[in-house]
This record gives sequence, structure tokens and C-alpha cells, in this order.
Amino acid sequence: MQRKQILVTGGAGYIGSHTIVTLLEEGYEPIVLDDFRNANPAVIKKLQKLTKKEIPFFNFSCCDFDKLIQLFKKYSFSGVIHFAADKAVGESVVNPLKYFDNNITGLISLLKVIEKYPNTNLVFSSSCTVYGNPTSYPVTESFPVGFNSPYGFTKLCNEQMLMQFHTALQSTKICSLRYFNPIGAHESGLIGEEPIGAPNNLVPFITQTAAGWREQLTVFGNDYNTPDGSCLRDYIHVMDLAEAHVSALKYLEKRKEGCNAIFNIGTGIPTSVLELIKVFEQETGKTLNWKFGPRRAGDVPAIYANVEKSLKELHWKAKRSVNEAVLSAWNFQKHSLITNPSIK
Ligand code: UD1
Repeated sequence: MQRKQILVTGGAGYIGSHTIVTLLEEGYEPIVLDDFRNANPAVIKKLQKLTKKEIPFFNFSCCDFDKLIQLFKKYSFSGVIHFAADKAVGESVVNPLKYFDNNITGLISLLKVIEKYPNTNLVFSSSCTVYGNPTSYPVTESFPVGFNSPYGFTKLCNEQMLMQFHTALQSTKICSLRYFNPIGAHESGLIGEEPIGAPNNLVPFITQTAAGWREQLTVFGNDYNTPDGSCLRDYIHVMDLAEAHVSALKYLEKRKEGCNAIFNIGTGIPTSVLELIKVFEQETGKTLNWKFGPRRAGDVPAIYANVEKSLKELHWKAKRSVNEAVLSAWNFQKHSLITNPSIK
């Protein structure tokens, strides 16, 4: 049987690269599009080494409609997973236009192509950031939406664009996945979260501090109205998240009619920043150098997912623990130390 061709925009990035592995395991043929603005081109070689498969890749921005349509002429995509986007919340506050430009233009360009190829299923990378600052938890997909940053605004705007696009072209099959906090790495230690420059996110900051690349971790805030005063998040293993994308593709493939579905992709389990540090220390035997600092602007005190809908309709649930996720992130960090000691 011919393998289904899937375009993976942003396929060299953190979540994209892990999803490529799962797609190949599940018999799909992923084709990567990435402009490497926030990804290391070496990831493609690592993916080929890991999977022992040739992975076609194209180096241009998803915003480039003319090139994108050429790609659709060259291949017969049955689906697209659209990861390509900028994602640093703090940077988006300083440079909102960069976010409007890449995250909104990128989706417009893709939708213009899908308008011409309406049988292409679309899985979109959304985020729990669209819940803004929720007043109760766990959050279900029907909770009110909002945003706290230009980044969050672009994700919400993208979801609304998809809804209105689907209303106009009802045969299209679309699924948005609202990710909670992806962490961890593939068990091989070959691919993982590789931010360019100092990490913004908690887990790469923890592993880089433990490795001696950073001097000290700052825990942003100790006076939140949470059990230990630090923020609560729903940390999900990136391989569980990768599997959610395959479940989403299968969900769309089974649908006879068009749809625009939205799912939370989390574990449903809240973990505080202090608990995560403790898990890291327990699992790795390392002592982390950390201190409390002031709250970070824009952080919500707590958010975690209600995952009933994804279990019932996508037939997907997270299988891996936060302990496994943290350990896999450390394994990736140690691997980076061996293979790339100069990258800091
Ligand atoms: C946010 C978004 C998420 C988005 C992600 C992309 C929300 C609710 N979440 O995640 O949708 O995909 O950014 O980057 O908007 N922390 C520290 N010290 C650090 C770094 C982080 O204490 O050096 C704390 C933060 O205050 C937070 C937690 O760790 O409580 C997680 O932070 P981070 O990993 O940056 O993710 P979010 O901000 O939750």
C-alpha cells in the first residue's frame, strides 16, 4: 500500500522533529518544510540516522505561497501538520510584528493552498495559551478564550481563521491541538529541545543549568495562590504529543464529512515548578542551583487540561510520566554535551 504523504511545516523544530519519528513508525511519509529560523539543520541528518529513512526536506518559509504551491504540485499530500511558527512569549511582547508576520501570514499562505487542494487534512499546532488566564481548572475545550501576549493572540487568531475558513469551505477537515507544556526528548537522546541561545522554557533551562551551561535557574515567583507558591502547569512528554498528531490525522481520515475540531493535549495532571525541580533532582541524582526571583510578566498562576474529549474522540491519552519526561530531557542534554560541547 502506498504511504500517505504528510507535509510537516516546522518539521525540524522541537515538536515537529519528534512527530516525524512517530509518523514514520506509523507508516506515513513525512516531507519537511522548515526555514530553520529557530531550528538546527543538523536535526534532519539526526532524524535520518535515527529512523534509517530518507526524509525529503525543503528550506523556505511557509509564508512563501508561490513555493508552497509548487510543493503541493510535486507531492500528493493527504495531510499537513502545521507547526511552523514563532513561539517565544517574551519576544512576542517586544516584537509583535514578527509574530503577526510569521504566525498569521504563514497560516494564510497555507490556507490559500488548501483552498486549491481542499482534500488535504490539516492538523494545526495551537496552545493552551488561548485560555488566557483561566479562573478555574482543569480547563475544557469549551472554556472562554483570550490571550496574554502577542504570541497568544496569534494562536487564537489562527484558530478563529480556521473556524471561518471552514465555515466558508465546509468540506475541509481541520483539527487544532491545544498543547499544554511539552517537555522531554526522544529516548535515543539524538533529538530534543534545542533552543537557539538562552532558553525561555523551564526544562531546557533546568538541564542546561545542571550541565553547567547556565549558572543558576531562577524560579519566577513564590507567592502565587498555589499549594507551594510556584506556578502550576501540565507538562506533557513530547513523544506523547507526537503521538497525538498521528491520532489527529487518523481522526480526520475517518471523518466522512468536513470538520473543525479542537482538542486539549495534556496529561490532566498539574505539577508546580518546585515539584518539577524535585523530580529532576530525584531522577538524575543532580543538585540544581536555583533561587527564587520575581514573577515573570505574563505568566498565569495555574493551568492544566481536562483531557476527556481527546480520550473519547481522538482515542489518545498521554502514557508517559513527568519523571520519564524529565529524565529523557537530561539524557538529551548529556548527549548534546558529548556531541556538541561548544553550543551554549
Ligand atoms: C508558555 C505558553 C505555552 C507556549 C510556551 C511557548 C501559556 C500558559 N503557556 O508556556 O502555551 O507553548 O510558552 O514557549 O501561555 N519558569 C521559571 N524559570 C524559568 C523558566 C520558566 O520559573 O527560567 C516557570 C514559569 O514561570 C512557568 C513554568 O516555569 O511557571 C513554565 O514556563 P515555560 O516553560 O516558559 O512555559 P509557559 O510559560 O508555561
